[in-house]
Amino acid sequence: MNMDFTNKVVVITGAEGGIGEAMVRQFAEAGAKVAICELKCKGELEKELTAAGKEVKSFSFDVSKKAEALEAMKQIAETFGRIDVLINNAGINVGPDERKTVEHFSDAWWDAILRVDLDGVFNCSKAAIPYMTGENVSILNTSSITGMVPLRNQCAFASAKAGVINLSKAMALELAPKGIRVNVIAPGTIGIEVTNKLWQDNKAMEGLLSHIPMARQGKPSEIANAALFLSSEMATYITGAVLPVDGGWTCGGFARNF
Ligand SMILES: NC(=O)c1ccc[n+]([C@@H]2O[C@H](COP(=O)([O-])OP(=O)(O)OC[C@H]3O[C@@H](n4cnc5c(N)ncnc54)[C@H](O)[C@@H]3O)[C@@H](O)[C@H]2O)c1
Repeated sequence: MNMDFTNKVVVITGAEGGIGEAMVRQFAEAGAKVAICELKCKGELEKELTAAGKEVKSFSFDVSKKAEALEAMKQIAETFGRIDVLINNAGINVGPDERKTVEHFSDAWWDAILRVDLDGVFNCSKAAIPYMTGENVSILNTSSITGMVPLRNQCAFASAKAGVINLSKAMALELAPKGIRVNVIAPGTIGIEVTNKLWQDNKAMEGLLSHIPMARQGKPSEIANAALFLSSEMATYITGAVLPVDGGWTCGGFARNF
């Protein structure tokens, strides 16, 4: 029983930035063969990790396009022989200027977010499942605490990420007989380039942190730690679970004492 991924094939989407990159690094460190999947791979991560003796390869495709997802999973399975872990981590959301109430929310952003954040999980899962025939195989989907409890002014993200949670539970039910586990990580606010910009002024950051019992943002590596655990031999009886990794944000407490 351990967190060793030697000879395991791990596919990670949205894998060259923020949380995905941290996942790539940690799975590669744990011995996995990693498919680094990105909309348009720059290839630097592959180069760096290959030079360090890790077995990784980049695959560029758009998760929102069914045909591209099908072709990519086929290529990955041909390259590495099979797929043991699929991590649907690619996602988009509106930036600070586009955060608007539903009657003003952009139709284009609504469509784009649903296509990438929800359809992307369906497309990649459907395409990967035929290659997931080994022992302790699993799908892990990155939702958000916004998929559990909506935040204002980001209705598309809230809807797509809630959809990811129920899609994951539906898949957990259907795929258990095939031996495929399906779980969800729901990050709170994680310090990456975009969120750092969003909370850059002290007042905004103070307001944000007042809602978080642990009073800090999470690190991408803290999401990757949870991903390793849920995909590992330590989690063989866990399926259909939603794990918030949020410093206690969704405990339901209020920002002030009464
Ligand atoms: N950072 C946070 O605070 C936070 C909070 C909750 C949920 N999340 C979720 O975590 C996941 C990772 O996000 P992140 O914070 O690392 O942000 P990020 O922007 O660094 O990562 C998202 C990645 O998805 C890729 N991507 C976007 N559209 C794509 C497409 N059509 N096809 C393939 N790849 C595509 C991007 O290129 C990017 O590398 C996302 O699903 C996001 O919604 C993040």
